[in-house]
Amino acid sequence: MKAQRAQNYLFFGAPVGMFFTIDARLEIGSWLDYGMFIQNIMIGARAHGLHTCPQAAFADYHRIIRAHLGIPQDHTVICGLSLGYEDKAAVVNRLRTDRAPVSEFARFVGDES
Ligand SMILES: Cc1cc2nc3c(=O)[nH]c(=O)nc-3n(C[C@H](O)[C@H](O)[C@H](O)COP(=O)(O)O)c2cc1C
Repeated sequence: MKAQRAQNYLFFGAPVGMFFTIDARLEIGSWLDYGMFIQNIMIGARAHGLHTCPQAAFADYHRIIRAHLGIPQDHTVICGLSLGYEDKAAVVNRLRTDRAPVSEFARFVGDES
């Protein structure tokens, strides 16, 4: 588990690693916007045949990242993201997680007619 976790900090061998920061004055609504922004990058990457892995693991080391990349103190490090091509031969990439049915997390209210 530790070895796999450590791969985070090598961007899992991806050719491109990204860091995302947000102006520390912005509040929860902006963090929601930011999540959508990152997901758009992930979806856009798929359209170009690329794969991504968003990485909250970087947030634990925000002080080190800040110092190395010269991120200003008034910005919060949100996460990292690996961008590259999926290694289809890697066992770890064969894991397919289940998807909960919509009825498990959504409630529909209203006139059914
Ligand atoms: C906000 C967010 C943070 C994540 N952080 C990490 C991370 O630090 N390290 C990691 O290996 N995967 C991370 N993941 C990726 C997930 O573990 C998972 O591999 C990914 O969401 C794809 O899973 P799925 O195909 O089962 O949906 C993160 C995903 C999200 C949405």
